[in-house]
Amino acid sequence: MSALFTSFTLKDVTLRNRIAIPPMCQYQAREGYVNEWHLAHYTGLARGGASLVIVEATGVSPEGRITPGCTGLWEDGQIEGMARIAAAIRAAGAVPGIQIGHAGRKASANKPWEGDDHIPDSDRRGWPTLAPSAIAFGGGLPKVPAAMTLDDIARVQADFVAAAKRALAAGFQWLELHFAHGYLAQSFFSPAANQRTDRYGGSVENRGRFLLETQQAVRAVWPEHLPLTARFGVVEYDGHDDTFYPEAVELIRKMGDNGLDLIDASIGFSTANGKTPWGPGFFAPVAGRVRRDSGLPVAASWCIDDPHMAERAVAEGQLDLVLIARAHLANPHYTYQMALDLGVQTPTEVLPVSYGYWLSRYRGPGKGAAQ
Ligand SMILES: Cc1cc2nc3c(=O)[nH]c(=O)nc-3n(C[C@H](O)[C@H](O)[C@H](O)COP(=O)(O)O)c2cc1C
Repeated sequence: MSALFTSFTLKDVTLRNRIAIPPMCQYQAREGYVNEWHLAHYTGLARGGASLVIVEATGVSPEGRITPGCTGLWEDGQIEGMARIAAAIRAAGAVPGIQIGHAGRKASANKPWEGDDHIPDSDRRGWPTLAPSAIAFGGGLPKVPAAMTLDDIARVQADFVAAAKRALAAGFQWLELHFAHGYLAQSFFSPAANQRTDRYGGSVENRGRFLLETQQAVRAVWPEHLPLTARFGVVEYDGHDDTFYPEAVELIRKMGDNGLDLIDASIGFSTANGKTPWGPGFFAPVAGRVRRDSGLPVAASWCIDDPHMAERAVAEGQLDLVLIARAHLANPHYTYQMALDLGVQTPTEVLPVSYGYWLSRYRGPGKGAAQ
């Protein structure tokens, strides 16, 4: 009996197993519009057996994109392409999700394979960045952002709300707010990035205000019966996690009280100084702690690319959902491969029938009871 291959219900959405594909930027959009690449990519991922496919970090405004190649939902014309992706994910048997966000002071960057650094102000492909305070991220991201006015804050929150409505119109059933990875929301929570003296800075309550208000505003337009989640960095690995982690949990609890259905626990990446202890499954125990301390359902990723490790993370109560990113790029049918390796489900239980039927009928290479 596998814990990984049991269903999981959140609000009115039932996932057929505990394996989801988290957002992964493709950097292939033009002016925020998706194209054939995205449709093929997400359809391929959805066919491989994962229960939920979350479309990449999608900008709530042009200046909220990480790179000029990032997707957007800041205008109605962008809905149609996203609707085709959501429909294709559903047709392949998975639940379509999307992550919306604002990149803050890490915006206006070159694509990873073109440097991953800030586009200089002299280059017309770039744009001025926004953040809680006028403090640069550092390293390859030296641009000094403009400190947001209260009007800026209200406008960005309204952009989140409008993007959430467009995500709904496109047919997505799972909405993830990108509150992690040093982008705008995470930088509001970070004492290193946020040195405001108004009601959005200082105390933990004030640093959490932008996130909480944004979540509440989105919840008001995102249907009650559909899951609203957030990806949020709960540790920074910068030597200050003894104070940072309890504050992060305090905010998660508050978000839970205000209608957040699940937390996608992640790393803050708020400064260039963090020392992440990379290694197989290193983050699952942290996520397990968040699950215990917050009382909310938890999903998490980071180097969980071994089927037995993923099985244990669910069976032992660390995670409700296991997020597997890069292994699904290497093999979009990785979820199916996990089922074979664990010997727990038949091909027709994991794959769309047009594939699963044939793989159940004929013996092929591989191992596991499903063959
Ligand atoms: C190509 C690529 C793009 C990514 N884009 C995003 C993104 O859009 N939003 C996000 O929150 N995380 C993003 N991530 C992080 C992944 O969602 C995931 O957390 C990370 O890769 C760790 O999972 P893994 O060890 O299974 O790959 C990206 C990762 C990769 C490899």
